[in-house]
Amino acid sequence: MTNTAALSLERQQPSESDIHTPVLLGEVMSGIGLVSGGIYVDGTLGMGGHTAAFFAAQPDIRVVAMDWDAESMALARKRLSMFGDRIFFVNSSFARLKEALSELNIPEVDGILLDLGYSSYQLERSGRGFSFLRDEPLDMRMDMTGDITAADMLNSLPHEAIEKIIHVYGEESWAKKIAKSIVEYRKLKPLTSSLELSQLIFRVIPRKFHPRRLHPATRTFQALRIAVNTELEQLRTALEVLPDCLKNGGRLCIISFHSLEDRLVKDAFRSDRRLAPVTKKPVAPSDEESSQNVRARSAKLRIASRCQSDSSEQD
Ligand SMILES: C[S@@+](CC[C@H](N)C(=O)[O-])C[C@H]1O[C@@H](n2cnc3c(N)ncnc32)[C@H](O)[C@@H]1O
Repeated sequence: MTNTAALSLERQQPSESDIHTPVLLGEVMSGIGLVSGGIYVDGTLGMGGHTAAFFAAQPDIRVVAMDWDAESMALARKRLSMFGDRIFFVNSSFARLKEALSELNIPEVDGILLDLGYSSYQLERSGRGFSFLRDEPLDMRMDMTGDITAADMLNSLPHEAIEKIIHVYGEESWAKKIAKSIVEYRKLKPLTSSLELSQLIFRVIPRKFHPRRLHPATRTFQALRIAVNTELEQLRTALEVLPDCLKNGGRLCIISFHSLEDRLVKDAFRSDRRLAPVTKKPVAPSDEESSQNVRARSAKLRIASRCQSDSSEQD
């Protein structure tokens, strides 16, 4: 068997290392307010940690489980097989929730969860170059039907566009220098691997300016992932669409990991007349959760409730 075939076989079964620890689980459970017989949307299924907890708490619910990563969804499907036809799997972006519900003949739902970003599976095992510690193809697509990989971007965009991505999405103060080095490097050879990129960044940022607790490539990798997956555009569209999918009183829970995402959620929850914010400030993980799960540290949960916009307009 070739190495690739062995790897792809190995990837078909979820292993312990694939299992993403769901963040802010208790807070989501109390925020989403599960009711018996309700229908919920997990817009970012991942490995199904939140969905499994929904069923454990309220077995007679139904869940529309969305993820645009088909490979990860196949693993989650196996993991959640005991819930049978109480789960509808939809391999698509959460920005398309309205269409998905209409295809399922579901007019409205009782609650929606988005747990943004990427999963431990995608980072550790997908082989798509999300980790700066691994030597993998520099791909970074979550939806593998997308046209543009991280390598495509870095090997074709002008210097200014690369700098802007790294500066805006990565909040990286060395963006200009990193972008310049990428453009110099690709004159000799296209960038193709995650390790190649991370080593380049490691060399470009002077040692004394390496962040103390982060790998110097962390911010650039985050920026590229956001750009490749058009993450902010997906969230913007979702914030327009999702309130209309909720029943009156239904809850919208969004966990974000980036200040730009949190700002979009905060502004939408404040200004959208279809929504009433339930959390004034974002809910952060407890010290205990942060110490047990490093990935939870930057998580922020905001919750809003669907209200009738026309009645509030009359007030
Ligand atoms: C943080 S993980 C979710 C983890 C999940 N809550 C769990 O407990 O296992 C985020 C997931 O959302 C998916 N995702 C990100 N953006 C998406 C989008 N626009 N539409 C659908 N899925 C998306 C990713 O592919 C990833 O599997």
